[in-house]
Amino acid sequence: MSAIVSLQDLTDQLEQLEAEAAVAIAAASGAAELEELRVGLLGKKGRVSGVLGAMGKLPGAERPLVGQRANLLKELVQTLLAQRLESVKTAAMAQRLEQERLDVTVPCRYVPPGHRHPLISTIEEIVDIFAGLGYRVSEGPEIETDHYNFTALNIPPHHPARDMQDTFYLAPGADGGERLLRTHTSPVQIRHLEQNPPPVRIVAPGRVFRRDAVDATHSPVFHQVEVLALDEGLDFSHLRGTVTTFLQRFFGDLPVRFRASYFPFTEPSAEVDVQWRGRWLEVMGCGMVDPAVLEGLGLDPQRWSGFAAGLGVERFCMVRHGIDDIRRLYTSDLRFLEQF
Ligand code: DAH
Repeated sequence: MSAIVSLQDLTDQLEQLEAEAAVAIAAASGAAELEELRVGLLGKKGRVSGVLGAMGKLPGAERPLVGQRANLLKELVQTLLAQRLESVKTAAMAQRLEQERLDVTVPCRYVPPGHRHPLISTIEEIVDIFAGLGYRVSEGPEIETDHYNFTALNIPPHHPARDMQDTFYLAPGADGGERLLRTHTSPVQIRHLEQNPPPVRIVAPGRVFRRDAVDATHSPVFHQVEVLALDEGLDFSHLRGTVTTFLQRFFGDLPVRFRASYFPFTEPSAEVDVQWRGRWLEVMGCGMVDPAVLEGLGLDPQRWSGFAAGLGVERFCMVRHGIDDIRRLYTSDLRFLEQF
């Protein structure tokens, strides 16, 4: 017993199929999905074929009507599939372009490798020269007590030498003691000798602080290197030889001269000049360690003698590189720094 099939039934089914196909194609989001729909609708075992299979049960005269309707459906489905495929591809391309965008007008993002700041390399060079002469590095705190910064260096309270160095004082420490930012690296001499019996040979690089207004040659924070040698039998000729050797290694083979000067912690004391491009430039202070300093440390000045020296790193760096303004060393302007 075969089911009764009417022309109307088959036409309705084709119409229904067409409506469903249009909705499904519009919702498809990729080429693979569209191909699946095509096979499901128009393939040999597809739904259109299914409808056409029932056509044989119609009277002969009605069959071409169903055939024509089916052909219209096929054409429409093919057109819709092609259009949808096109728009799916366009959308996929647009998304790729958005995601893979490469802006060739973006400025160069090359980050150059870092390098040493000229002040740091100056300190390293100075320390290296002294290391080659048998000195080792010692360091002390930037926050100091009045004792180490002044008194132990033979600068008693109310001594006029304290006015030579305008000091930043801090609130007293927990023990009520006066605290300050060290005005020079000389306190490292005292701290080192307290912990290390002579003979000693040290260099002490570090930051120091003074209440100076900023200008082309002054900064409230700057760097010094302190030198100390204490042994048996050292005299002024050792000081002279060491300082001259050091300066000629740093600046080259230039004339060096010593001028008598005064520092409370050395006796005798001298200031040292180098002749740089025809002009005498003062570059450091030095002297024989004052016996009063040694006595304060419990060391016998009859047995131990030595020399000390102190220099400003900024000065050395500026002279060596022809830098006209100390502020350039602190303002981190890459156009300046990249030259070193
Ligand atoms: N401490 C001195 C200053 O700031 C520099 C100095 C001079 C250090 C003579 C010394 C020295 O060790 O012997 O300005």
